[in-house]
Amino acid sequence: MALRKLVAGNWKMHGLSSDLNEIRAIAAAARDFSEIDVVLCVPAILIERAVRTVPGFPIGGQDVHHAEKGAHTGCTSALMLHDAGATLTIVGHSERRDAQRESNEEIKAKAEAALAAGLDVILCVGESLEARGRGDAIATVAGQLGGSLPSVIAGETKLAVAYEPIWAIGTGKIPTIVEIGEMHAAIRDTLRDRYGERGELIRILYGGSVKPSNAAEIFAIADVDGALVGGASLKTVDFMPIVAAASARAAS
Ligand code: 13P
Repeated sequence: MALRKLVAGNWKMHGLSSDLNEIRAIAAAARDFSEIDVVLCVPAILIERAVRTVPGFPIGGQDVHHAEKGAHTGCTSALMLHDAGATLTIVGHSERRDAQRESNEEIKAKAEAALAAGLDVILCVGESLEARGRGDAIATVAGQLGGSLPSVIAGETKLAVAYEPIWAIGTGKIPTIVEIGEMHAAIRDTLRDRYGERGELIRILYGGSVKPSNAAEIFAIADVDGALVGGASLKTVDFMPIVAAASARAAS
């Protein structure tokens, strides 16, 4: 079944007041593509200003703490993101799994906290180059999903999974079309096993060096329901051709 495509930009640690104009331009251009969902995940401190700049356009965060509140210096809760106007958050990005040593268990708690706060969630998984070299890519991702998927999902469109091979992030390299297809099919099987029919409705995004030049062929792969885009989401001129490629696929 073809799901409504989602193209999410992950601005990572980029974005100052002076970039609100770029967010305005992206939101304005995205209005031409109403048959797909487009969202920008910006630094937490920019969320409220972004929401005020582009009312009605979905703005997301990039991480949440798993606790509702408490003595967690420097952290941001899911309720805080929601309160700031975010509609969605990323959890479990490989940059956080690595630099902040986030475990699957912690990521699961974050995903559950975000869903409970009314946020949509993009849960990231992806293998290292070593794991792929050993032939363990699919097993690695299955293990990450097994440990980090939320126990229950209420609404079918609230959760998305992003497959982001670590070695493809910011490198210009991507897996082959066959490798992406195999991984997305395996993720779909895991989601079906876990959630039954509802697992069919969870969007599976591909992320890692998605560019205007490769977006169309990536969106043509079965079970690729959208993309999580890093570097190419920072500028309208790079991001919009990716959005347009997803839209063209949705229309085909
Ligand atoms: P790039 O698109 O810059 O490779 O980043 C991908 C990513 O990590 C998105 O979350």
